[in-house]
Amino acid sequence: MRKTSDEVTVRSLHETNSKMMCITLNKFLINVHKLGTALGYFCLPPNEQKKMKITYLGHSCFQIDTGKAQLVFDPYIRPNELAKGIVDIDKLKADYILISHGHNDHTHDLVYLAKKTGAKVLCSWEMQDWLNKQGVTNTHAMNFGGSWKFDFGTVKFFQALHSNSLPDGSPAGAAGGFIVGCEEGTFYYSGDTGLFQDMKLIPMFHELDFAFLPIGDNFTMDAEQASLAADFIACDDIIAMHFDTFEMIKINKDEAKKAFARLGKDLLILEIGQTIEK
Ligand code: NI
Ligand code: MN
Repeated sequence: MRKTSDEVTVRSLHETNSKMMCITLNKFLINVHKLGTALGYFCLPPNEQKKMKITYLGHSCFQIDTGKAQLVFDPYIRPNELAKGIVDIDKLKADYILISHGHNDHTHDLVYLAKKTGAKVLCSWEMQDWLNKQGVTNTHAMNFGGSWKFDFGTVKFFQALHSNSLPDGSPAGAAGGFIVGCEEGTFYYSGDTGLFQDMKLIPMFHELDFAFLPIGDNFTMDAEQASLAADFIACDDIIAMHFDTFEMIKINKDEAKKAFARLGKDLLILEIGQTIEK
């Protein structure tokens, strides 16, 4: 028997309600968990509050000292005019180099830094192939949806809405980002990306303490879209990347911060060379 349109409406309303209840329950549980974490945090003596040290090396490049390992993301240092005289690649320590995609403004110093430090490079399967041919053999390939446990914590490779290529035209796989979870906290490094709905999957599985998002427009999201992305990933604490390096991604920092403030979120724009603890 065909359902009347009223029955259909009631049924879909019922389904919507139960979905909403699931989401509400999920949010409630996350809040209970957050409260528990916060209470645990405050109970710890100050010197036992584990934090990560985050250093901005310009463009989308960061060094993160988790306490157990030095992670470097998307090294683009020597060609970056803004980092000249501030960041010395030869003094940079790295145990792991995480590569979101193959574009030059994310990999220019990859082979150099990987060979110099002997760091393990995390990247797409296709980029691993290319790296191996460049003589970089300490690599770990990943693909979307997959996680791997390293000695400092767990890394998940997550999709990005961006293109990908390598300088010599070798296959690069798809552009991605990383969700890193360790004892000291959990964060998301999106890589270059536009805004996409699948970001909403992240808070279903990860409770983020902070996230790195691009805000420079033209090649990626602008600050307004990035503030929405912050909403999608349920994270109030965002560190800006991919801005000011080139003419096409120069931003107005006050406007960018305002876009985030409108959604009750904090956008942190670091100076190159600056180190913060989180
Ligand atoms: Ni790119
Ligand atoms: Mn880029």
